[in-house]
Amino acid sequence: MTIEQIQEELERELIEYPNRLKHIYGVRDTALELGRKYNLDLDVLVISALLHDITKYFSKKDNVKIIDSYFPETKFIYDEYNDKLLHAFSAYVLAKRKYNITNGEILNSILNHTVGRANMSMYEKVIFISDYTEPNRTYESCVKVRKLVKESLDLAVFTAINDSIIFYEKEHSKIPMIAFEARHFYRNLLEEKND
Ligand SMILES: [Fe+2]
Ligand SMILES: [Fe+2]
Repeated sequence: MTIEQIQEELERELIEYPNRLKHIYGVRDTALELGRKYNLDLDVLVISALLHDITKYFSKKDNVKIIDSYFPETKFIYDEYNDKLLHAFSAYVLAKRKYNITNGEILNSILNHTVGRANMSMYEKVIFISDYTEPNRTYESCVKVRKLVKESLDLAVFTAINDSIIFYEKEHSKIPMIAFEARHFYRNLLEEKND
């Protein structure tokens, strides 16, 4: 599937969700800006952005069905991840199966766009931070992180992960171990840089 075909399909599927579409294009445009700055493959970023939330409006039941049909071990997913985060797993599966994506950078960027992970690739970081800071986002942490991106991508990534953990803690939501590992990793990385 070409980028144009993916976009057409997306416009059809999200016809009733104009705000989601706006968000997706916001992520794409932010990712393009960062991609140019860091000299990345822009097609990889555009496809990742277009597909990262394709299952966001699916019911929990549908998300679970897709996830169970692909991953051999799913108990840890439902034990660790709150419902808001499940769409990253199902979007990953649909990207592979429906859109025939084989590029690992695209797949990992989709899979890890919600809470990140330790030692992300540049593509994963750019999609993660673009999802967090795209222009339609208005929450306080996003405004803060948007400024930090200009200073340091890793500082922005750390802050977004840390603020997400704090947010979920306040909500008494489940938080996956991978988020804590990511926070630990980026905290250490920033400390080493400051040494
Ligand atoms: Fe998402
Ligand atoms: Fe998103």
